[in-house]
Amino acid sequence: MERGAQVGVGRTSTVYTYGTGAVVKVPFAEVPTHWAELEARSTAAVRTMGLPVPEVLGMVEIDDRPAIVFEHIDGVSLLQQMIDDPSSTETFAREFADVHRRIQRAGIPADVPDLVDRLCLKTQTVRQLTDEERAEACDTAMRLPRGAALLHGDFHPGNVLMSRSGPIVIDWFDATVGHPVADVVRSSILLSPPPKGIESLHLPGLPRPMMETVRSIYLETFSALLENAGDLLPSWRAVSAASRLSEGAEVDESELLAIWKERPQHVDLRVERLPGVESTYESM
Ligand SMILES: Nc1ncnc2c1ncn2[C@@H]1O[C@H](COP(=O)(O)OP(=O)(O)O)[C@@H](O)[C@H]1O
Ligand SMILES: [Mg+2]
Repeated sequence: MERGAQVGVGRTSTVYTYGTGAVVKVPFAEVPTHWAELEARSTAAVRTMGLPVPEVLGMVEIDDRPAIVFEHIDGVSLLQQMIDDPSSTETFAREFADVHRRIQRAGIPADVPDLVDRLCLKTQTVRQLTDEERAEACDTAMRLPRGAALLHGDFHPGNVLMSRSGPIVIDWFDATVGHPVADVVRSSILLSPPPKGIESLHLPGLPRPMMETVRSIYLETFSALLENAGDLLPSWRAVSAASRLSEGAEVDESELLAIWKERPQHVDLRVERLPGVESTYESM
């Protein structure tokens, strides 16, 4: 079957209609070919938890590369809703935060990768960091507290579509299982207004005061979680910024490097790296 009209474009792919009631998500040419399969698997796994997620209808080849066929969600993004109706910003910001909380409380699906593995994979490829800094980012990720929640990995108002039956969360490529603070820190970085005169990458078209509203309602919703993280928060932010730097040319590089540079040098991460199985047996 041929793909139809374009329905949207994101940071890694273009989405087209595909027959009746379906869309096909076609990754950009530079995206590694195995990513589509990974996203399809994670999305299907998340859907088994009863979360509002598009159904995965299958995989197809488009231009000789794997692409994912999803159920077509009829609705515009939360971001577009806020732009179209500024008076609804607060309501939609609350809806946005609520959906994130539902995801964190949904339980843990099988078949979704581990957060720390993903962070280490991503930080390994950051060209703006030295070899030592890349190793430090992964080491910090390993020593921060482990958690056991479903994380979306790229939760921003462009990845929530408002259908007639309520919000539907798309774009699960970076879904992992890990500590919820990691996902909240990531979203709070994505929701930060960029320096004046620069267009926000994740909230394009949203006026700055509305960005501030969305971010402050979001942070208020997760204030207890963030407070609990206490003095580990700068380390979480540093790791999150380092991992985001791996996402290619479109990232807000100077802000992210500033967050990385602010990382504490001598923080007590409390969790010592666990000894490997061999050294555990050796000491018995
Ligand atoms: N299941 C779907 N139904 C309708 N539109 C979709 C669907 N999935 C994606 N889209 C549209 O395509 C855009 C990009 O999809 P997304 O999965 O976010 O791609 P990316 O990974 O490139 O960010 C979305 O913002 C939305 O407009
Ligand atoms: Mg997207």
